[in-house]
Amino acid sequence: MAITFDEQNREFMLSTDHTSYVIKITDDGYAAHLYYGKKLNHFLQDAGLREGEFPAPGKLLREKGTYLSSLPFEYPTEGVGDSRPGALSVRNEKGQYGCELFYKEHSIEQGKPGIPGLPASFAGGEDIQTLRLVLTDPVLALTVTLFYSVFPKEDIITRSAAIANDSAKTYSIARALSASFDMDDRNFEMLTLDGAWARERHICRRPIGYGVTAARSVRGESGHQENPFFALLESGTDREKGDVYGLLLMYSGNHLEMAEKSQNNMIRASLGINPNFFSWKLGSGETFYTPEAVLTYSDSGLTAMTHSYHDFIRGHIIRSPWREKLRPILINNWEATYFNFDADKIVSIAKDAKDCGIEMMVMDDGWFGKRDSDNCALGDWFVNEEKIGKLSDLVNRVKALGMKFGIWFEPEMISPDSDLYRAHPDWALQISGRTPTLARNQLVLDLSRKEIRDEIYSRIANVLKSAPIDYVKWDMNRNLSDIGSAAADAEGQGELFHRYVLGVYEMQERLITDFPDLLLENCSGGGGRFDAGMLYYSPQIWCSDDTDAIERLRIQEGTGLVYPLSTMGAHVSKCPNEQVGRNTPFETRANVALAGTFGYELNIANLPEKDRALIPEQVRRYHEFHMLIADGDYYRLHSWNDEEPYDCWMNTEKDGSCALITYVQVLGRPSTCSRKVYLRGLVPDAEYEIQEVNPSRVDMGYGRFTAQKRGYGDELMNAGFLVPSLGDYESRLYSVKRVRENS
Ligand code: GLA
Repeated sequence: MAITFDEQNREFMLSTDHTSYVIKITDDGYAAHLYYGKKLNHFLQDAGLREGEFPAPGKLLREKGTYLSSLPFEYPTEGVGDSRPGALSVRNEKGQYGCELFYKEHSIEQGKPGIPGLPASFAGGEDIQTLRLVLTDPVLALTVTLFYSVFPKEDIITRSAAIANDSAKTYSIARALSASFDMDDRNFEMLTLDGAWARERHICRRPIGYGVTAARSVRGESGHQENPFFALLESGTDREKGDVYGLLLMYSGNHLEMAEKSQNNMIRASLGINPNFFSWKLGSGETFYTPEAVLTYSDSGLTAMTHSYHDFIRGHIIRSPWREKLRPILINNWEATYFNFDADKIVSIAKDAKDCGIEMMVMDDGWFGKRDSDNCALGDWFVNEEKIGKLSDLVNRVKALGMKFGIWFEPEMISPDSDLYRAHPDWALQISGRTPTLARNQLVLDLSRKEIRDEIYSRIANVLKSAPIDYVKWDMNRNLSDIGSAAADAEGQGELFHRYVLGVYEMQERLITDFPDLLLENCSGGGGRFDAGMLYYSPQIWCSDDTDAIERLRIQEGTGLVYPLSTMGAHVSKCPNEQVGRNTPFETRANVALAGTFGYELNIANLPEKDRALIPEQVRRYHEFHMLIADGDYYRLHSWNDEEPYDCWMNTEKDGSCALITYVQVLGRPSTCSRKVYLRGLVPDAEYEIQEVNPSRVDMGYGRFTAQKRGYGDELMNAGFLVPSLGDYESRLYSVKRVRENS
């Protein structure tokens, strides 16, 4: 049983294969957090709630204020004594803040419920149990239902809350996070995925001091800068050892991830919708649903957390039928042409690509309205026939080559210079009396309004119905600002950020329902909306506008720490690289892109012949290795640093039968010998053969090396495998195959 209840002690035990999570209902009726960590075989006999302790030296009895300030809560509320940051803050009809929750009832159910209007994980064929823990505030007549679903195999527990107003009054929610729990500090560090445009999701670790250590977004999307994920790590934690708590939010708008260290050296870990710029009017009989939080714990370092999240996202978040299919290798014309193309140009790029084995042509920005630069026409989703002729003719020409066809949209935006804006200037988000701020020359549509969503959606659907289109890239190229809706009252403005996200989700739900075979790729100025919410709608997301192979190492490492490699849009682009001006070998660009969805972003006609000649072999490698990369276990073996400037990772089949090692030298260093990397996921007693993939490549003179090696699993994992020291930006792939099961 994944969820059990001890009636006598009023304790709930949530058990996964390797973890336990324990909740206790105190004598006063509070839902207290007792434990989250390594698996326990018994209920806790001593709750460790410190209920009898004095608050301070002296002989005072422990009165309510100090009691609430140190009780570890499951869903803490604000206003009645606990001054730590709450998960829930509610204002009554007089505008006063205050809420206090007591146990009412619970049920343990089979299955995993969805969340109205929001992405949510699903059972996916596994036997999943859900605890519905119902709490109530008797003064407000507010019912808060906490949902906990337990995924034993993946060591995942999901949480969300539903806040229902059972009174006749109207309240305002000021804060409604998705999950929170308290623990004693064990010198925890906080790990977050931080960055900027073209430098997304770099792994960042910092100590947690007193007060709040946080990641967040107020940009209306999850953002390039801080991802809706964090981990608490015991100090000294690395890939293989140490306690790790992972907290991931399945949400694509403003978010907050927070660890607060209080006066009592307790840590409150919580995450949810960012309360900044948030309020929600909760009328009589209405319910507010929080997004879902996805929690995991590992006592053996970061790799175990990564595997839990990868398995969970693949099995329980991504719904697309493409999840398990080999996706077509695409070529995208953006960096090849920018806005400067016509139908013949697209067909000629496609033809050269097809000759090399590439499988899908994607026409990026610039095919609609009068869009020949980035300062006009967003919203005018009508084919520019003067530029590309009839879309169906173009698609048919590409299909006649034997390729699939994809197209770019940016549905959430409006250009001031567009027919749409001239007809509906009030459709853009804007604050009365202020000129809205332009970013990339564009404004944001007010997607909280149904009539706007309907109009934009029908324009997009008409384009998709007009030709046999296989793939859509849904882009979003600026953050939200000027949060004002022409259609909302004063209270409604506080709901706008969240209603916008609900609007995006509704539109994407319609799209994948109406076009069930469509391969949808989300994108936001590169990787500005790379989150588990979007993965519910699209199986892949463009990882970053930075296509430089070396910059991509850290971007893909941070992304892959949480998100499966099958979700990371990764392409080979031209050199010098458009973002950083770097020249890297064509082979290395392909080896790095192979760790994602794999495609090209260039014009093959402009490639040097020696590079073009490599493409058929790269296509072959993708076909040979992609499913292993997409579905296998991902292990980071080394991350480059100044002393040891090379990256190495490995994708291992779950049964240990085969693997692929990718090795990239960031900078060459003189007088260094080869390095040992310790392989992972192999069967200790099996014998393996390791072969360099494509050893016929042109050797640059460095790292002349044994191309082939045999070894036992335990040897390769413990004694190591030698990787060569190469020249700047060089890379190698090694294929590992089991040749004898048990020796
Ligand atoms: C964003 C995307 C790019 C490209 C351009 C088009 O920057 O990330 O890949 O589609 O928009 O305007």
